Amino acid sequence: MRDKFYITTPIYYVNDNPHIGHAYTTLSCDVMARFKRLDGYDVLFLTGTDEHGQKVERAAREAGTDPATFCDEVSENFRILAREWNFSNDQFIRTTEQRHIRSVQALWRRLEEAGEIYLGTYEGWYAIRDEAFYTEDELGVDDAGRKVAPSGAPVEWVKEPSYFFRLSAWQDRLLKLYEDRPDFIMPEVRRNEVVSFVGGGLNDLSISRTGFTWGIPVPGDSRHVMYVWIDALTNYITAVGYPDESSELFTSWWPALHMVGKDILRFHAVYWPAFLMAAGIEVPGRIFAHGWWTSEGKKISKSLGNVIVPSEIVARYGLDQVRYTLMREVNFGNDGDFSHRGAMLRCNHDLANDYGNLAQRVLKMIARNCRGRVPPPGTLRDQDRELLAQGRGLVDRLRRHIEIQAFQLMLRDIWEVIGAANRYIDAEAPWKLRDVDPQRMETVLYCTAELIRILALLTQPVMPESSARLLDQLAVPDDRRDFASIDEEHSLRPGCPLPEPEGVFPRLAESTS
Ligand code: MSP
Repeated sequence: MRDKFYITTPIYYVNDNPHIGHAYTTLSCDVMARFKRLDGYDVLFLTGTDEHGQKVERAAREAGTDPATFCDEVSENFRILAREWNFSNDQFIRTTEQRHIRSVQALWRRLEEAGEIYLGTYEGWYAIRDEAFYTEDELGVDDAGRKVAPSGAPVEWVKEPSYFFRLSAWQDRLLKLYEDRPDFIMPEVRRNEVVSFVGGGLNDLSISRTGFTWGIPVPGDSRHVMYVWIDALTNYITAVGYPDESSELFTSWWPALHMVGKDILRFHAVYWPAFLMAAGIEVPGRIFAHGWWTSEGKKISKSLGNVIVPSEIVARYGLDQVRYTLMREVNFGNDGDFSHRGAMLRCNHDLANDYGNLAQRVLKMIARNCRGRVPPPGTLRDQDRELLAQGRGLVDRLRRHIEIQAFQLMLRDIWEVIGAANRYIDAEAPWKLRDVDPQRMETVLYCTAELIRILALLTQPVMPESSARLLDQLAVPDDRRDFASIDEEHSLRPGCPLPEPEGVFPRLAESTS
């Protein structure tokens, strides 16, 4: 049986249209999911929408519609994003689905039976935009002198009856979890932040609200709806069949790797494992928190009007170009800045010049000088064997990077080999060999074409479509495109006819600003 790999994106609030932040989190999951599938794993890749809560209820009201209709409409935009960005999610979950409501209520009952929930009164600050409670000392003040959440979101004073989860009792067990599993939270800076937050002591967590109705009713007390985060986090187990924990579905997939933005780490790394431990369910495999994007050096905000719309950057640079740029520009986990200049450089330098041109040069020479067929390898010299060994050795290096979500390093290593291939071809100058040593020319073209096959197999997770076009041009059959096919046994067959070569990464005009 194949190994299983379960990966999740956060589920997105439907109060907003998709922006680069959403696209980025899901893209990182897509790259992981594709990599693992190509590497022989059975993958479950989950994304979806978070549809309850006061924020969504308000957004629906502002849009002049009821929450259910509003959710149907906006949730669809996230499905469209997934299609436009070629995301390979296996499931799209919505928190308004029956299976999810059943799952959250079952979790609630379990926590209640375990004595982890009690009824009290919540009095304190709440930020609807973050759907989060804050203590007085966490708040700051905005320019107008109003109290605001650390995220800058406005807060309001809330006093209402509320059910509480005994989070304070979980401090030591959480700290032990972080200590026993140093890579449970990544990257390390974020882990340290969480450890110090939990080390500072935890308050019990208010997990129900009464001021509005757009939520999952608390079992046995329909005056309360559940706090949106207990509802939302549970999606990760709903998707694998919770509350049916003994099912094959649940036992074979859970636990998952959760990819999240740094702003929502606390919910995932503190509340979620505490809920799960309290309910006697295994905690997640890992929580990786990525950084935030700015745009041309500025914080992205609607009021500044600099929101990066996913479909717009794709139309401008091309989908695979954008996917590459986002994965290459920053060390995953750090913040990054999206700039036009940076994107152009990636598209024209890395993709058009380094990668695209390498493929074009070789494929064209094969078309012209080898009657459009894969040439025979002939006798390999040391430098030929070295180049191919570098290519074949890549997959192991990439596996190590992907295990720790180091997408940038993965691409850097691939580009190192692309650089080596360009140097090889310049040094061997097959165009000069045509008349003086045609056999050597064939060997050089064979080796570079074979290397391009390996590179195109390995760039599939980040650039699925362009890599597929390169593989088409090398006549690589569909069932020979997984990583097991990198080995020598599956190398290009001499004599195999190749289609007419065509450029895959066009140069973009520098003048577009
Ligand atoms: N609904 C919650 C998640 C519940 S998960 C159980 C939520 N939704 S969200 O729509 O606000 O999610 C946004 C995701 O996009 C988060 O991972 C967040 O970090 C990410 N980003 C939002 N703006 C971003 C940037 N400018 N840059 C990168 N990612 C950012 O939170």
